[in-house]
Amino acid sequence: MNDIEIVKDTGVLTITLRRTDKKNALTGAMYEAMIMAFNDADGDAGIGAIVLRGSGGVFTAGNDIGDFLASAQTPSDMAAWRFVERLATLETPLIAAIEGLAIGIGTTLILHCDLVYAAPDARFRMPFVDLGLVPEAGSSLLLPKRIGMAKASEFLMLGESFDAAEAHRLGLVNAIVPNADLYAHAASRAAALAAKPRAAVATTRRLLRGNRSGLAARMREEAQAFSQALQSDEARKAFMDFMMRAKPKS
Ligand code: COA
Repeated sequence: MNDIEIVKDTGVLTITLRRTDKKNALTGAMYEAMIMAFNDADGDAGIGAIVLRGSGGVFTAGNDIGDFLASAQTPSDMAAWRFVERLATLETPLIAAIEGLAIGIGTTLILHCDLVYAAPDARFRMPFVDLGLVPEAGSSLLLPKRIGMAKASEFLMLGESFDAAEAHRLGLVNAIVPNADLYAHAASRAAALAAKPRAAVATTRRLLRGNRSGLAARMREEAQAFSQALQSDEARKAFMDFMMRAKPKS
């Protein structure tokens, strides 16, 4: 599909978000394409790492708000939920390269990555509460574990944004890399990882992650709460406000 580009090269599968006219906001079809790419990587012994990157100076503006508004489905039917579940069970090492905006799932997905590189202009934000929504992708569990409850509350409850420098200081990104070098750097780290003994990398990754049963349970809880929130008046109003604001000005 046009909005997602997938390239396999020397042991690395690269997924590029290319919906630049909509700041790479993620649609159901884009999630499905990424799920298929994850399945492909996990099933291909030739692939040792995945790079996930944006384009047009942006990582992603998060879930497509029009899709949220249209969605009267249950979370288990939503491609977004299938995507986060697949993300959490992915076996191939995942590297994110982030420049510009990383909103909503654009931020929460980095909690599932093995390595994250950010350009100096990267800006992270999880505005779930402002949209009448709640955290997803296990972020209500993983974020406080990674950065402490105080900062997690600032980011998830107040919806405050943070920049690359703060993300680096908090240990959410491995390094800040100039925009011009970002994608090449992520590709070189992915190639280095793909060239290492695969079984040793896989076992190390599994040990680093530890027991994931608590994560799966929390993600189910989040999915239920998110589903209820999606149907709420406050969420509908927030989506409508955005859609009206985003109407083409003629
Ligand atoms: N869903 C759907 N469309 C989106 C989108 C999203 N999450 N984010 C951006 N877009 C669209 C805009 O509607 C606009 O479309 P248009 O040109 O047809 O009007 C286009 O992308 C460009 O966005 P625009 O808002 O004009 O750019 P900006 O630079 O002024 O602002 C953002 C960029 C990302 C800060 C702003 O678009 C925004 O806040 N988006 C919503 C982010 C969000 O809340 N995501 C959900 C998280 S759970």
